[in-house]
Amino acid sequence: MESKILVTGGAGYIGSHTLVKLLEEGYDVLVLDNLSNSKLETLDRVTSITKKKFEFIKGDIRDKNILKEIFKNKSINSVMHFAGLKAVGESENFPIKYYENNVLGSIVLLKEMALAEVKTIVFSSSATVYGQHSNNRYDEKTPTKPINVYGKTKLIIENILRDIKNSDDNWSIGLLRYFNPVGAHSSGFIGENPKEKPNNLLPYVAQVAAGLREKLFIFGDDYPTVDGTGRRDYIHIEDLSSAHVRALDYIQKNKNILFTVNLGTGRSYSVFEMINAFEKVSGKKIPFKVVERRIGDLAEFYADPSKAEKLLDWKANFDIKKMCEDTWRWQKNNII
Ligand code: NAD
Ligand code: UFG
Repeated sequence: MESKILVTGGAGYIGSHTLVKLLEEGYDVLVLDNLSNSKLETLDRVTSITKKKFEFIKGDIRDKNILKEIFKNKSINSVMHFAGLKAVGESENFPIKYYENNVLGSIVLLKEMALAEVKTIVFSSSATVYGQHSNNRYDEKTPTKPINVYGKTKLIIENILRDIKNSDDNWSIGLLRYFNPVGAHSSGFIGENPKEKPNNLLPYVAQVAAGLREKLFIFGDDYPTVDGTGRRDYIHIEDLSSAHVRALDYIQKNKNILFTVNLGTGRSYSVFEMINAFEKVSGKKIPFKVVERRIGDLAEFYADPSKAEKLLDWKANFDIKKMCEDTWRWQKNNII
């Protein structure tokens, strides 16, 4: 039997785009997702885009029996681990839910991987593990001190993976710290589809442009930045997913390693710059109102992506215009 990649959380935003890339590269894939924040229809759309088949199991990473079955019967050789909860605000209000889903879920998964001798994993971490620093350009040596529960869960999982690697050199592990993923597949078939009111800037802007929301609330214009709004390193989802395939390829070829890399573009944009770019590509006016700063927001941070560029021979290619164009195409088509 061919060996397969297990993609946890493969029906979600980043997972589904990476699934497209994996299938296009010829990987055999099994998706495990409990659909708590995604829809089955997304997976049908992945099939329409790629014209390729893959297996899907609806299930939870905290369910060791499902994992045992998968590792016993499906010839898995590597795992891409996207499954997790990601809403920063919710994580502060419901810490147990976050520790249980993200940390406990990862422990159950890692234990079953170890038992099945599957020791190759790419993990979705986040730039939020860094917290606040005086220098806005974060490289991987920037100390980690997350300021919210969500970020703490990511750092705990990273540390568990480091400890596992220290105890058993046969593991190959890629820790990918994403900056701000945005955009959608260029087909307009899949994209980010928040079930609730969007927390993140670009999905909110897109919904305002589409007339689904009246105006954008800008969280503060008194930051020490050029126009007073927060600046972030937005990275196109297709660039982010390509990096995953490179990371997987790297750990499959270079056994017994653990690496940590930032995935970003290396430059930041302000809220006003994003609004202007979106207005240009959509031809829509984005009404806004400046309100209080959002608790926990930082003025600016962006990636030093040079390590990922060197190690994975990868670079983010898509610019802010393409990020807005693809988001807008997806928003206009978004009926799921
Ligand atoms: P998403 O919510 O769209 O996707 C996560 C998927 O995991 C969903 O399909 C959900 O149903 C599934 N899932 C959640 N808990 C599960 C469980 N216990 N068992 C099985 N499936 C489960 O989120 P996303 O934006 O695609 O994020 C993917 C990963 O990347 C997450 O781990 C997230 O924390 C991380 N990340 C996201 C961002 C971002 O801005 N989107 C930034 C940094 C890191
Ligand atoms: N913003 C607004 N109005 C909104 C939403 C956002 O003004 O309605 C502003 C924020 O204040 C910030 C910028 O737009 O200045 C970006 O905010 P996002 O919520 O889009 O992104 P964050 O950087 O706050 O957080 C994101 C993810 C986190 C992840 C972090 C780092 O939501 O999960 O990037 O990777 F941890």
